[in-house]
Amino acid sequence: MNQIKIDPDRRLGDISRHIFGGFAEHLGRCIYGGIYEPGSPLADEQGLRTDVLEALRRLHMPIIRYPGGNFVSGYCWRDGVGPLDERPPRSNLAWGSVESNQFGTNEFITFCRKLNAEPYLVVNCGDGDLREARDWVEYCNGTWDTALVRLRRQHGFPEPHRVKFWGVGNEVDGPWQIGMKTPEEYARAYLEFSKVMRWVDPSIKLVASVTSAWDGTFVERAQLLVEQAADYLDYLSIHWYVGNQQNDFPTYMATSEIIEDRLSAFEGLIRALRFQQRVKRPIALAVDEWNVWYRTTPIPGPQFNGLEEIYNLEDALVIALHLNAFIRHAATVRMANLAQIVNVIAPVLTRPDSLVRQTIYYPFELYSRTCGSIALDVFWQGETFSAGDYSGLRVLDVAATLDEPRKSLSLYVVNRSETEAMETAITLDTARFSGPVQGFVVNGPDIKAENTFDRPHQVGVSSVSVNAERREFSYTFEPHSITVLVCTLD
Ligand code: AHR
Repeated sequence: MNQIKIDPDRRLGDISRHIFGGFAEHLGRCIYGGIYEPGSPLADEQGLRTDVLEALRRLHMPIIRYPGGNFVSGYCWRDGVGPLDERPPRSNLAWGSVESNQFGTNEFITFCRKLNAEPYLVVNCGDGDLREARDWVEYCNGTWDTALVRLRRQHGFPEPHRVKFWGVGNEVDGPWQIGMKTPEEYARAYLEFSKVMRWVDPSIKLVASVTSAWDGTFVERAQLLVEQAADYLDYLSIHWYVGNQQNDFPTYMATSEIIEDRLSAFEGLIRALRFQQRVKRPIALAVDEWNVWYRTTPIPGPQFNGLEEIYNLEDALVIALHLNAFIRHAATVRMANLAQIVNVIAPVLTRPDSLVRQTIYYPFELYSRTCGSIALDVFWQGETFSAGDYSGLRVLDVAATLDEPRKSLSLYVVNRSETEAMETAITLDTARFSGPVQGFVVNGPDIKAENTFDRPHQVGVSSVSVNAERREFSYTFEPHSITVLVCTLD
């Protein structure tokens, strides 16, 4: 019998809603044909796809990162503002295409406002300079009577956009990046970029790029940033993509350990560096690109399909493993951005007349909707499995949150067994259940089930209601499922 014990007084920290962030890039059909399709019967007066807006609204993403990704390292923001017919088409060298610039800063901010999401802009620290970066902050947020502020007003936005979150560069450690930087080059550039960006608007939060390559330099990169630019560091950004390259389900389910290793390593690293440098201000972690991505090629050429990855149920389980880990590491992970949001490695796939919600849409929607504001420290034990380099892995992967004002506890459980249901005793320590527990289960016929335009509902969410007596109830988690149990406390 598996056991889950929760003491609502044992807390790991408050949860930043920004762990449910998203990311949109000028790549494939994310923007054009995804978010933005003027002339489509589904578009609103601003050219935004209303069906896409509606699907994204249900994900409750509080923050969206833009415009890249690799794209941003060759992007000039000025090309994407002003009258549409005057915007220059440019080469998008990151993805081997032509960028029309019909969608830019103001269109993106309008899109965010419609979703009630904070815009998070990344400046070009590849082939762009710091003048360009500081000008973008001024164009967006400036209030003095300057040429850039007048320009924004002339473009139809008299009020400042108040963009609070700004990233300096993208994946600067990757050889695939335009203007890749050594640790020293980036720390130096980061200090100068962030300094002037903050002089323009002292209220902005800044994100430094640390690693996506996970090579031998990430400790040094973080160290140089903290040594040289601690006053300007709000977040350290790390990225990763995972996948089932070996078509081995247990090993894929052990992805939880890679996530744990990376988050714990960065937690320790930040702590050590702040201690060493006597940095008093907090430095958080932003996992501002994460997802499953292994089927589609990133190399422009005949095989390139704009990264239109088709997801299955096992991928959805891996999305839930990530969200569980972000909750368990809530004290450090203050932002995470699912990469990306539409068509490109995305939960939503469009065609001109409709869209489909991919399997990964459902856990994200469920967690985002039910997540409380406090992460709880859960005890759980039970059946284990071995996979790849790991043994003793608990079949159930668990996290829990508390919404104190509502007296509501959400328990998140991924059953990583392909075949076995997991009977589990769920016990409360310092509180009692009040009334039935509401459950939501993401599952499908088998681990390879996909939602496609032909069969859009293979994987979805079903609801259950469970009786809970005083301090305990038992629940059987279906094989290959994600379950959210929402309990009201006395
Ligand atoms: O999200 C797709 C790409 O993955 C991004 O452009 C880049 O930052 C990462 O390598």
